Amino acid sequence: MLDAERFVADSEFSDEEGFQKSLRPQKISEYIGQEKLKEKLEIFISAAKLRQEPLDHVLLYGAPGLGKTTLATVISNEMNVNLKITSGPVLEKAGDLAAILTSLEENDILFIDEIHRINASIEEILYPAMEDSELDIIIGKGPTARSIRITLPKFTLIGATTRAGLLTSPLRDRFGMSHRMEYYTTKELELIAIRAAAILNVPIEKNGAREIAMRSRGTPRLTNRFLKRVRDYSQIKGNGIITHEMASKALEMLGIDELGLDELDRSILEGIIKKYAGGPVGIETLSLMLGEDKRTLEEVYEPYLVKIGFVKRTNRGRVVTELAYKHLGMECLIRKDNEKLF
Ligand code: ADE
Repeated sequence: MLDAERFVADSEFSDEEGFQKSLRPQKISEYIGQEKLKEKLEIFISAAKLRQEPLDHVLLYGAPGLGKTTLATVISNEMNVNLKITSGPVLEKAGDLAAILTSLEENDILFIDEIHRINASIEEILYPAMEDSELDIIIGKGPTARSIRITLPKFTLIGATTRAGLLTSPLRDRFGMSHRMEYYTTKELELIAIRAAAILNVPIEKNGAREIAMRSRGTPRLTNRFLKRVRDYSQIKGNGIITHEMASKALEMLGIDELGLDELDRSILEGIIKKYAGGPVGIETLSLMLGEDKRTLEEVYEPYLVKIGFVKRTNRGRVVTELAYKHLGMECLIRKDNEKLF
C-alpha cells in the first residue's frame, strides 16, 4: 500500500457505511435541503468550471451528520474531479499530509474532516499549500537537514468541522468561502426518507416517512439509519410497508422519542435536573456524571438540545429549561437560590 493510501479513504467504506453511501446524493440536483448553500455553490462551481480553475477552498461547519462529506462528494462530481478524504486526527506527522498532497492531480479536491483537530506542525504545511500550491519539506535531521520546495498541482481543500470556533484564524482566513450547514426541516427529512426508501425498494407511506423525519433531530444521517431499522421492523412485525404505526413503534423500541431524543439525551436532562436542580452545571461535571466523553456531549448532544430550547448555555454552565421539564413530565422547581429560571 502506498503511504498516501494509508491516510486516504476515498470511495471504500465498510458495509454499513457503504449502504449509507449508496443513499447519498451524487449531484446538487439530487441533494435535498441546504437551499441557500446550494444556490451559492452552484454559482461558484459554474464560475470555476468556466475559468477551468479549481474551486476556491471551502470551509463547511455544523453539527455532525448534516452532510458535510456528502456535499464534498457532490462538489467533486459537479467539478468532475477526484476526491480524497482524510481527517484531522488521522494526520499525525507532516509526512502524512505531504504524502496526500503529492498524490493529488490538477484541480482535485482534498477533504479534511474534523479539520479543527489537525496539529500545529501540519497546519503550517497547509498554509503555503493552500495559498501558493507549494509544499516545503525538510529532508534529513540535524546540521545536514535541508528544506526543499515542491510545486503541487492546484487543488481545492474542503475543510469540515463541528467547531469552527476552534480553528486558528490564519487557517480560517485561507478559505475562500465558509458555509454553515443548518439542521434540516422535517419536510426536507421526509423527502430524504422517501428518496432513500425508493433507492432501497422499500414501500413507504407519507406518514411513515414523516414520523421517521420528526424523530431524526434535523439530521439526514439519522433519517437514513432509522429508515433501515424501521424497514427491518415492518418486514418482521408488519407487511413490509413503512406506515406511521410501524415507524413510531420501531423507533419507540429503539428508545427514540417523538422529538428524536435518545437515552443519553434524557440522561443529560434528568441528570442536570435531579443532581443539580436544573443547573447551571459545567460540561466537565456533566461528562463525569454521565461517564461520557466531553467532546461527544459538546459536539453531538448539546447542539440539538440547545436548538430545540431544552438547554441554555450560560456563562456559569448549562441550564435545563421549562420546555425540557414538560417534555420529561417533570415538575419545574424554583432553584434553591430563589432565582426563578422561567
Ligand atoms: N441522503 C443524505 N443526505 C441527503 C440529502 N441532503 N439529500 C438527499 N439524500 C440524502
